[in-house]
Amino acid sequence: MIPIEAHALTKRFGELTAVNNLDLEVNAGDFFGFIGPNGAGKTTTLQMLSGQLPPTSGTAQVMGIDAASDPIAVKAAIGIVPELEYPPSFLTVEEYLHFVAAVRGLPDDGRVDTWIEFFGLEDRRTTLCMSLSKGLKKKTTISAALLHEPQMLFMDEPFLDLDPLIQRKLKDWLIDFVKGGGTVFLSTHILELAEKLCNRVGIINKGKLVAVGSLRELQSSAIGTKSANVDSEDLEQIFVRLVSG
Ligand SMILES: Nc1ncnc2c1ncn2[C@@H]1O[C@H](COP(=O)(O)OP(=O)(O)O)[C@@H](O)[C@H]1O
Ligand SMILES: [Mg+2]
Repeated sequence: MIPIEAHALTKRFGELTAVNNLDLEVNAGDFFGFIGPNGAGKTTTLQMLSGQLPPTSGTAQVMGIDAASDPIAVKAAIGIVPELEYPPSFLTVEEYLHFVAAVRGLPDDGRVDTWIEFFGLEDRRTTLCMSLSKGLKKKTTISAALLHEPQMLFMDEPFLDLDPLIQRKLKDWLIDFVKGGGTVFLSTHILELAEKLCNRVGIINKGKLVAVGSLRELQSSAIGTKSANVDSEDLEQIFVRLVSG
């Protein structure tokens, strides 16, 4: 089973085609980076793949489940860290995480405490989510996404708003997660991060997937073009070549 498989995936908002005929495969054990300029269609793609937004046309299968016809089954199987959604205002950090654990039918076995401790939220347990800073809201959202120990994670700009120490800790955790057989679909416009963490990247521009492969493959995709020194290209140079060319 291919963990993520999209065929001709398309989303239109009125006249605008936000995602245009996208074909994509993400394999087991991939740390897949999905990069592209603002408004390229990253979030829309991630939302379609993770059962949050129905496609206009095309198909998306995630862990063998059709994301359009069975979005609830997809959401049960995966962890989602959305870009802009925050935890509900009138629950405390602890209440929210216990609520998510209960909705997911998880045992009360200390897993909430594990994530509270991981993100250093101990002294915020009883703080209302509305009173948290952006970074603390993000830590709470990521905790909620990981409670059920999903083997597949969809993360939309998860590092924004996090301080460098916790970024480091989360990066290390994600690297171990992938080593342990997990799969990550990471949408980001921080190229250094994608370059460091991801074994494969897809580049989307104006709704079209313009390239997909390892850094090495994306470098050699320039062979035969005018570009010199493709071997030494970093992801930023590849990005500029493919997106502005
Ligand atoms: N709900 C929506 N209604 C109308 N247009 C939208 C909606 N969501 C996204 N878009 C548009 O679709 C395009 C892609 O957006 P998005 O997927 O959020 O890009 P990215 O995450 O790469 O920055 C943008 O032009 C955005 O304005
Ligand atoms: Mg986005």
